[in-house]
Amino acid sequence: MDDRNLALDLVRVTEAASIACAKTMGQGRPDYSDQHAVSAMRAAFEPIPIDGTVVIGEGERDEAPMLFVGEQVGRADEDDPAMDIALDPLEGTDLCAHGRPGALSVIAMAPEGNLLNAPDIYMNKVAVGPVGRGHIDITRSPTWNIESVAEAKGVDVEELTIMILERERHDELISEVRETGARIKLIPDGDVHAAIATGNERTGVDMLLGIGGAPEGVVSAAALRCIGGDMEGRLVPRNKEETDRAQDVMGEGADIHRALRIDDLADEEILFAATGVTDGELLEGVRYVADGCETHSIVMRSQSGTVRDIHASHNFERKPHYTLEGLHEKMDDPEFESG
Ligand code: FBP
Repeated sequence: MDDRNLALDLVRVTEAASIACAKTMGQGRPDYSDQHAVSAMRAAFEPIPIDGTVVIGEGERDEAPMLFVGEQVGRADEDDPAMDIALDPLEGTDLCAHGRPGALSVIAMAPEGNLLNAPDIYMNKVAVGPVGRGHIDITRSPTWNIESVAEAKGVDVEELTIMILERERHDELISEVRETGARIKLIPDGDVHAAIATGNERTGVDMLLGIGGAPEGVVSAAALRCIGGDMEGRLVPRNKEETDRAQDVMGEGADIHRALRIDDLADEEILFAATGVTDGELLEGVRYVADGCETHSIVMRSQSGTVRDIHASHNFERKPHYTLEGLHEKMDDPEFESG
């Protein structure tokens, strides 16, 4: 399949979502921000020449009016390829709602069956860029992983920077990492951004450790697969209900506690696009200028390993649907709501 053009189609979708929700930055209304990103992303998918199925999305059909797991997206003409899609229209809803760094809009796409249909529960993760590839193991301790990556990079442990979500559940992890001497960046949200940041030396982030969403784990693995990085995870159900849900999604008889390697999370032929909503280590947030705005995105293909850094200028006079008024008109259209 020649998917080079599709990769660029995807970035139009993440750009649209970012532009829409960035206007709500700092309003303190996470759901409101998310709604804008979701609506804009859904609309932007309409002309894309794929027969897409959302495998990681906004949740189950009954709780998410759009981009729910199982929803068909794209133009879906007869010859359009069947693709699985993992998306997060606004990764870091609270970050956007409070104007904090690291919010982005993100999509990973692959031929059917190449992205893990992860349950919406937690996952313990370790993620690194290309230099650390093959030097991580989720079944071993954080200390082992840190020392192994430091050795692979040829640096002292004290020179590594580890990103960890600031959560009570990570108190023990943070103490252990401090004990190793490694530098730590605690983040309030957004472990997808942190995982992707490990793939770019410029960010100064070497590793992501800790527990975050499993769906976010699949999206992160897809990105790292394109960059040649590495990621491993392990599902962490907190109770019987989550264990049952995980079993349901992973299939009867599957060992839901097994180590998931990067190939299990995201297999071959991945296309990935992300656009910054707020500024972060990797991507700049949306900037508004006279008559339009500027966006910063990355687009990647695992087949070629090409990483494109895309700065785009958008003219609202020529793209009126990119304004809040244009989007609200679309959101109020009952035909749009029902798909
Ligand atoms: P949302 O965009 O859905 O709010 O997710 C933000 C996030 O920080 C993810 O990056 C992370 O994987 C997850 O939430 C962690 O979950 P929790 O906030 O429950 O610790």
